[in-house]
Amino acid sequence: MKTLLKNISSLVIIDSKGKKKLCGSDMNNISEIKDGAILFDEKILWIGNSSETKELILKEKPDQIFELKNKTIIPGFVDSHTHIVFAGNRSNEFARRLRGATYEEIANEGGGILTTVKATREASIEQLVQNASIILKNAIAHGTTTIEIKSGYGLSIEAEIKQLRAIKQLNEIFPIRIIPTFLGAHDFPPEYKNNKEKYIDIICNEMIPKVAEERLAIYVDAFVDKGYYTLAQAERIFKTAVKFGLKIRVHADELANVEAASLAAKFNALSADHLLFISDQGIEELKKSGTIATLLPGTAYFIIMPYAPARKMIYNDLAIALATDCNPGSCFTENMQIILSLAVINMKMTAEEALTAATLNGAAALELSDICGSLEVGKQADFSILNLTSYTDLFYHFGVNHVEEVWIAGKKIHKN
Ligand code: NIG
Ligand code: FE
Repeated sequence: MKTLLKNISSLVIIDSKGKKKLCGSDMNNISEIKDGAILFDEKILWIGNSSETKELILKEKPDQIFELKNKTIIPGFVDSHTHIVFAGNRSNEFARRLRGATYEEIANEGGGILTTVKATREASIEQLVQNASIILKNAIAHGTTTIEIKSGYGLSIEAEIKQLRAIKQLNEIFPIRIIPTFLGAHDFPPEYKNNKEKYIDIICNEMIPKVAEERLAIYVDAFVDKGYYTLAQAERIFKTAVKFGLKIRVHADELANVEAASLAAKFNALSADHLLFISDQGIEELKKSGTIATLLPGTAYFIIMPYAPARKMIYNDLAIALATDCNPGSCFTENMQIILSLAVINMKMTAEEALTAATLNGAAALELSDICGSLEVGKQADFSILNLTSYTDLFYHFGVNHVEEVWIAGKKIHKN
């Protein structure tokens, strides 16, 4: 089915100029077509100005034509870092944080990630799928068309596999594109608290081989930080992952600088994520390896920490992606529009940089920028129609959902 959308007030294409990702100041190259038009089936067939559509209609004979006066179209958001498959609720811990307890203090008492691990272990796969479905529906309603989901709340072979199978089921149920990541090295399970190397043996000798054999994940991630995995422990896990054909992404330098970004670079990780405390050396190493810096400003906001140095990264020509980190502890939102707002106000990114980071560069972090992340001929027709006359209004009028319709692969899959 061929569709033509025309008279679009603001059509934002994110002009990749044939590159997989945009680095540094190139992130400003979003390219906006005023009074734009787009023709697509599953993929984008043509993009241009509405004044050019008369001949196009005669030639291409679209099955349907819609006029979108006073509307803006942007590529679907690519949320390249989430933890949305879990059970339980940590609002009581959140309330404690509001009374002054820190994320670290709660974790040290055996709460935090381990609270969610307990609930997730007890939950059935059906329950996990049902919980995540609610979050996914919200994510789509706010304009997300591709999402990465990590395991990491099981921390035993059975419970990690259960989470990854839940992610697989979600991928079958939902039209949104879902990319799975294995995060067995999220924390240490209570039963191996005093024998951490034994748990790493299980990750390397049992979990990674099983995940690879059943193709339950494409990536392996680890939480490399103060109080969590050391550089040496993560290195062992990543070496095993590479041996099994899995690629690397890293939770790096979120709570303190441990030079985890340099480890990500050493393994040519697709992304190093969080980076609140990244060092100058870390920035340099990421630049050399071409690793994407995935920033999660919702987390800095939610756990009340300093924001990642986005401007310094852009000055040093890194490619930045923006994602939600949606999880029950350190950032409970699936709304990418809020993340954009936090990025421009608190990390001082421009609106154009933030849009590129939330679309094309997010897709590049998931190795998908050949098929999505921007509106260019040959790519999938994944986009949102916003009830706005210009994309800058998305940042200007904050805190409300501007998405009217969401389309994935040329099909309208959601209407608000
Ligand atoms: O990305 N950093 C590690 N993991 C999550 C937090 C998970 C949790 O608190 O449940 C994060 O911030
Ligand atoms: Fe995370």
